[in-house]
Order: sequence, then structure tokens, then C-alpha cells
Amino acid sequence: MADFKDIFKTSLRTNLCGVVNKDYSEKEVTVCGWVSRRRDHGKLIFADLRDFSGIVQVVFNPSFNEKSYEIAKELRSEFVIQVIGTVKKRTNDTINNEIGTGEIEIFAKELIILSEARTPPFMLDDRDAIDELTRLKYRYIDLRTSDMQRNLRLKSAVMNTTRNYLVSNGFVEVETPILAKSTPEGARDFLVPSRLNPNKFYALPQSPQLFKQILMFAGYDRIFQIARCFRDEDLRSDRQPEFTQIDLEMTFVKQEDVMNLTEGLIKDIFNKVLNTEIKLPLDKITFFDAISNYGSDKPDLRFGLKINDISEIFKDCEVKIFKDTLNNGGVVKCIKLEDGSLLSRKDLDDVVLMAKNNGAGGLLWIKTDENLQLQSPIAKFLSDIEKEKLINSLNLRVNNLVLVVSDKFITACTVLGTIRNHLGAKLNLIDKNEYKFLWVYDFPLFELDEKENRYKSVHHPFTIPDSKTIGYLKSDPLKVNSISYDIVLNGTEIGGGSIRINDLKIQTQILEILKVDLKKARDNFGFFLNAMEYGTPPHGGIALGLDRLVMLLGKLKSIREVIAFPKTQSAMDMMAQSPANISENQLKELYVKLIKYEE
Ligand code: AMO
Repeated sequence: MADFKDIFKTSLRTNLCGVVNKDYSEKEVTVCGWVSRRRDHGKLIFADLRDFSGIVQVVFNPSFNEKSYEIAKELRSEFVIQVIGTVKKRTNDTINNEIGTGEIEIFAKELIILSEARTPPFMLDDRDAIDELTRLKYRYIDLRTSDMQRNLRLKSAVMNTTRNYLVSNGFVEVETPILAKSTPEGARDFLVPSRLNPNKFYALPQSPQLFKQILMFAGYDRIFQIARCFRDEDLRSDRQPEFTQIDLEMTFVKQEDVMNLTEGLIKDIFNKVLNTEIKLPLDKITFFDAISNYGSDKPDLRFGLKINDISEIFKDCEVKIFKDTLNNGGVVKCIKLEDGSLLSRKDLDDVVLMAKNNGAGGLLWIKTDENLQLQSPIAKFLSDIEKEKLINSLNLRVNNLVLVVSDKFITACTVLGTIRNHLGAKLNLIDKNEYKFLWVYDFPLFELDEKENRYKSVHHPFTIPDSKTIGYLKSDPLKVNSISYDIVLNGTEIGGGSIRINDLKIQTQILEILKVDLKKARDNFGFFLNAMEYGTPPHGGIALGLDRLVMLLGKLKSIREVIAFPKTQSAMDMMAQSPANISENQLKELYVKLIKYEE
């Protein structure tokens, strides 16, 4: 941060509260801020004065200044005041090492109350004990806390570093419409009726995807935007209906160019904002390996517990469940715990329940005793050779515990992935100070939506198919991979991108496979398809979820902590009480008629 002394000097103050120290002894300063706490000791009144930079103690002493002492009697928490006073060193026994200004105090010569305050609904120091809905209702109080001050300043620093990095790498910052048209990110749109175009609606952008691509068609080469995005979907701790992406797009690039550029940005952010070095290149794993080894497309690699495939060992075995699964093309997979005693009988029951709740038929366990003998409900059905193979392939030692799921490949993997995450947290295997990045790439182009019985894009419909698998587009679309990539930090997806289709024929073919009605596609993004016909360079890009990134940098539990005015789980702004009713007149102007809502 720039030198506090100079830039924060104003007509009303000479210094910030948090920077007054013993260098100022016997000097006069003028400070402004909020009364954090007032203590009346009869002959002396103390006030902790707070601004964003910290707290300083002000002393009102009648023998130093009678008038300000009298006014100080009226002070209450959160009053805004201006104090002119003399800085004095504290005596050794009154030094407070808990605050930066703890070696001094300001003896008030003059006190001006700039604004009185009602008793706040909660004290700032009690933040952790106050329920979140109350904090969101009184967000103007909550935002005063040092936690929120730090979080929003952290976000600002990340945005600033991002801008500088991207601009110095030749990117142009271009804004794109907020009153836009439906984009195909896959969530529900937020819609805005148009007064000037009766019965027509704008859609708020789920991302600037189509616009950033069109800017590539237009020859801007590299553009970025710190973009507000809007998605009407169910909310979670890392999902908000409006959130911010660091969105970028580049021309004449391959996957590795976008990855390198993004890695440079991440390194710069960590270096400049957290003073932490990130080693490049970041690790990369294919989607298939991520699922197979960690049961997730966003694995947390801060801990081990890798998933092993032990199908081969059981291909001729007597255990019916293994035999049936393998005969039906399934797999037998497992996780090994070095210290089996860490899980109690109840913990094991919980894990079995977790497996069942996540779609597996069940979960089997195998333990090794002190003599490396296998203990398990299925032990008696295993041959000596199978037992030996199991011990060797998993490198089993005494007191190990193996959790086994035999099922369809995807079920076995994801169930063990869920259990892996559960055990990682439960057994404290995660180093909370570590930042573990990972690129996941080589995603399938499509996935099957079983409910709707149709293909869906894994990323979005503008992602280019991989030339090695594009041959399957007609015969078996699920076999086609895409050139797309996600960036994962500590088990959270913080960004995703792809190389884009730049050939209208392929684009049309993809839309057909997705069963997008071509007339509807023309209505929705015909402008984009038309634009593709006028010279479309190869291009690609990525979007990083800014809120998620900052949440992880700040080691916070929810992205609501890094958004000044977030929505609740039910998409309400508690402070502004939005969404809200609108007047009959407004509805009329918009040609909108409400129908009665019945639950
Ligand atoms: P995607 O949909 O993967 O890609 O979004 C990119 C990143 O945005 C963040 N994100 C969210 N953050 C908070 N709340 C939400 N509701 C939310 N939804 C997504 C995630 C995610 O990784 N147009 C493409 C990008 C591209 O291809 O360039 C897109 O939007 O961190």
C-alpha cells in the first residue's frame, strides 16, 4: 500500500488512527473515526477510536482539556468523531501490545462529534457469534469489522494485480452488455422486461462468452474483463446468483498458451498479494485420471488416499459381488488407510452408509492384523494367491485398512472420491496452509443427461472437439474429448476454459448433437453464428471465478465473505430486502401481468 501518511491526509485529519506511533510523541495530530469502545473511569474517559487502519486510544482528561472531557461523557459506540490531540508515550505498565498503536495514546485537546449513532444491533467484536442472516441484514455494520475490511481489500488487491498483469501482457479491457441475451452456460437466465420493446426480454449474461469470442473475430487479439455474471441456480457456499469472473480470451493460441498465461497470472497474484511463491508449471492431470485416481474432477491433492484399481486381482474370485460386477464390465476399487485404528466401528458404519447414500450397493472393508493376516467378512472367500496379490499390489503392512467398492466405474470412483474427501477432513490429513493447484484437462465433449435422454456439453457448446477423437462425433459422441481445461485449487474449481470452435460447420454439427433446435439457436445466438461466417481465427480463453479465488486466498468458508452485498441461500438481499414487489404502474409500463402465486 502507498505511504499512509501522505495519501490519507485530508482537510479533516492529519493521520489515520492505526498509524500513530511513538515517533509522533508530543506532536499534535488530528484523527477521525468511529468510537469502538468508551470506558469511563470517573476522572478519566478513554475511547478506542477506529478507522480501517486500526485503533488508537484517546484519553479525555479534564486537567488536560475540560471541554472535550465534558463532551466525551456523551460518547457511545459507533459515534463518529474528530479528535485533535497530543500524542503521549504510555507508561511501561500501560503499554498494550495487542494493537499497533499500543505504545502511545492521544490526549484530546478538542473533540467534535461528527455523527451520533444508535446502539448497533451487534458489537463488531462479537461477529463470530452473530448468525449470518443478522449480519447480512445489518451488512453496513458487518462491513465495519476488521474481517470484512480485510476480505474486501484482499479482493481489491487481486483485481488490481490482475488488471496490471493482463494489461502488461497485451490485453485490452473491453466491457460487454449486461442487458444481453441468453447465453448457453447451462443455468437459468435472469430476465429483464423491455419497456421500449413490449413483450421482449433481455437476459443478464451468465458469462460474456459469446461477446468475448466475437471480439476475437474482430481482431482485438487479447481481451479481458472483470465481468459480473448472473446465473439463476441453487446456491451453495461457493455459488452466488451474481458473481465475478476474470474473463479472458486470446487469438491464435493453443491450450498451453492459455494455461501458461493463466499460470503467470496466478503466480503474480500470489506473489504480490500474499507474498507467497508458487512453483510453475502447475501439475496437470487428465479428466479420466482425476476420476479414476481421486473420484472427482476437482481433486484436493493436499492429501493422499489415492484410489486403487484392484479389479485384476479378483477376476476369477469366488466373492459373488466382485464376480458379478466384473462380469458386467464394472470395477473393484479401493482406498488404503495406513492406520486402520483411526476409524472406530461407528466411523466404519458411517462410511458404509455414505457409500450407499451416494449410489453404491455397499462398501467392504479389509483389515490387516499384527501378523499381516487379512480380516474381513470376505476373507474366507479369497484364495491365498488373491490375498498375496492384494498385499503386494497395495503394499499392505500391519494394521492397514482397505475400503473397497465394487460397482460401475463411475459409481465406484465417485463414491470412493466422496469417502476420500470425508476421511481427508475427518483424519486431519489436510495442511490448511498449503495451496495445491491442479489443471484438469482432456474432458469429454459431452455427457449424457439421463433424465432428458440427450447429450449435454460438459463445458459449453463452443468448445472445440479434440482432433484425435472428433471421428466419433457421429458414431459415439460420448467418446469425443474436448480441448478444455479447469483449474482447481485445494479441491475447488476456480476456473474453466477451452479452445473454441472456429468453423461454422462443426459448430452446427455440435448444436445438432445437443439437439438444440436450430431455429431456436438462430433466435438465441444467431448473431454469433452469423459472425462466424466472416473470418474466424483460432482462439481460446478461460474464466477464473474471482470470488472463489479470493475466498481460498483468504482461507474463508464462503464466497459471501468476499462479496460486499451478497444474497442469502434463498437469493435474498437481506439488507435491501430485494427482490421486492413493484408498483402496478411499473408493471403496466412493462406490459407485465402477474399471475397469483400458489405454493
Ligand atoms: P464456467 O461456467 O466454468 O465457465 O465458470 C467459470 C468459473 O466461474 C466460477 N463460477 C461461479 N462462482 C460463483 N458463483 C457461481 N454461481 C459460479 N458459477 C461459476 C467458477 C468457475 O470455474 N464462459 C466459461 C468460461 C470460458 O470458457 O472461458 C464459463 O463461464 O470458479
